[in-house]
Amino acid sequence: KLEHINHLLFLWFEQIYPKKMSEAKGHVLFFPYPLQGHINPMIQLAKRLSKKGLAITLIIASKDHREPYTSEDYSITIHTIHDGFFPDEHPHAKFVDLDRFNNSTSRSLTDFISSAKLSGNPPKALIYDPFMPFALDIAKDLDLYVVAYFTQPWLASLVYYHINEGAYDVPVDRHENPTLASFPGFPLLSQDDLPSFACEKGSYPLIHEFVVRQFSNLLQADCILCNTFDQLEPKVVKWMNDQWPVKNIGPVVPSKFLDNRLPEDKDYELENSKTEPDESVLKWLGNRPAKSVVYVAFGTLVSLSEKQMKETAMAIRQTGYHFLWSVRESERSKLPSGFIEDAEEKDYGLVAKWVPQLEVLAHESIGCFVSHCGWNSTLEALCLGVPMVGMPQWTDQPTNAKFIEDVWKIGVRVRTDGEGLASKEEIARCVVEVMEGERGKEMRKNVEKLKVLAREAISEGGSSDKNIDEFVALLT
Ligand code: UDX
Repeated sequence: KLEHINHLLFLWFEQIYPKKMSEAKGHVLFFPYPLQGHINPMIQLAKRLSKKGLAITLIIASKDHREPYTSEDYSITIHTIHDGFFPDEHPHAKFVDLDRFNNSTSRSLTDFISSAKLSGNPPKALIYDPFMPFALDIAKDLDLYVVAYFTQPWLASLVYYHINEGAYDVPVDRHENPTLASFPGFPLLSQDDLPSFACEKGSYPLIHEFVVRQFSNLLQADCILCNTFDQLEPKVVKWMNDQWPVKNIGPVVPSKFLDNRLPEDKDYELENSKTEPDESVLKWLGNRPAKSVVYVAFGTLVSLSEKQMKETAMAIRQTGYHFLWSVRESERSKLPSGFIEDAEEKDYGLVAKWVPQLEVLAHESIGCFVSHCGWNSTLEALCLGVPMVGMPQWTDQPTNAKFIEDVWKIGVRVRTDGEGLASKEEIARCVVEVMEGERGKEMRKNVEKLKVLAREAISEGGSSDKNIDEFVALLT
């Protein structure tokens, strides 16, 4: 019976795998954590590996079944596997009911890999997001080369590692007993600089355990990758290299904005033809002088309080600079009434539901980027040479903001009151400082230097490019 099932799975795999898959050098499975901010850096690495001759299958755990999709530009196929949730359940249910997600997804992943191993081009390796450590155990059991790929920066991951090792104790009350935390290669971190899941015991208990558990079995990984580059965090990287088989392979920002060696790679999509560039935003920017516009965006997840949205809006208005603000549909009602209409009528600002952020940051009219300091946004800003005003909200963002302000000196961080609110005066002060203050000029120079280093790292012969080549050699 088992043989019969295996035979059917084999036929199924043979059918769905396009021919170019079986012609490629080696077949690698990618297993991203199913959040856009984690999937995008996986797709970007997959594109680079595909252009180096590997065939990629990207496995996405989802409650919705989608037919397999094969890219025309890259040898990448995307498959969904079932994550144990029903289509009508809330998309965030998987973050709350972790056991259900882990158990169901483990079963689906095991079945998927077992079937793939019977295909004409069996996979050699699994590249997984350490947010799902169970993937490592499954891949090891099924005899694959296992690669942990951190899409979040070392800045947060190293803190979680120290907690897992018992080498750092999360404080019980961050305000009563403020201490400075020390980690190898880091400046001293105040509690406000720590990743939000690690700054106070008992806050985010589920997520705390979740991020710390990334390290429960990491040492069994055959290789560890991270979306950063050696020159960005040299001290941290040195320490890491002494512990683990680490290769930094980033920044995996689309090639058009870096080395331009992958002409099709213009955004985070697999097929560029499917993305209509939003000409209206770029046209609007085209009418503004160089470095005159403040770009504001808080990524795909952050939801500011209504009070914070209003303070931010008033601050931007108060500075008098032209602005472009990406505000997701769900957030728009928090803006002061008449704010969008007035800005558009008098033509001093534009509020868009979604903008082509890379094109925007690359536009000469942009003077600074008011950001939540998500890792992708941070890498994009430094790859495109745009200084930042950091308004970190949670997860890795506070630590990224600390490095932005104090280590790389490419931006300032907005200070908040005891309630975590940034006032309009404070936001305006920071924006003006970056746009025209003396420190702002320094930041611009510093970010230009990092832009050059980022390009060098990913260009032919650069540190990340070499790491990718070495990695490919391991798999072919
Ligand atoms: C999440 C976490 O919040 C972040 O801290 C972590 O580092 C990665 O996962 P997200 O909040 O989405 O990510 O932020 P970020 O990592 O900055 O990614 C946002 C992406 O959306 C960027 O690639 C950005 O270019 C894109 N974006 C955002 C647009 O293309 N257009 C927009 O209008 C807004």
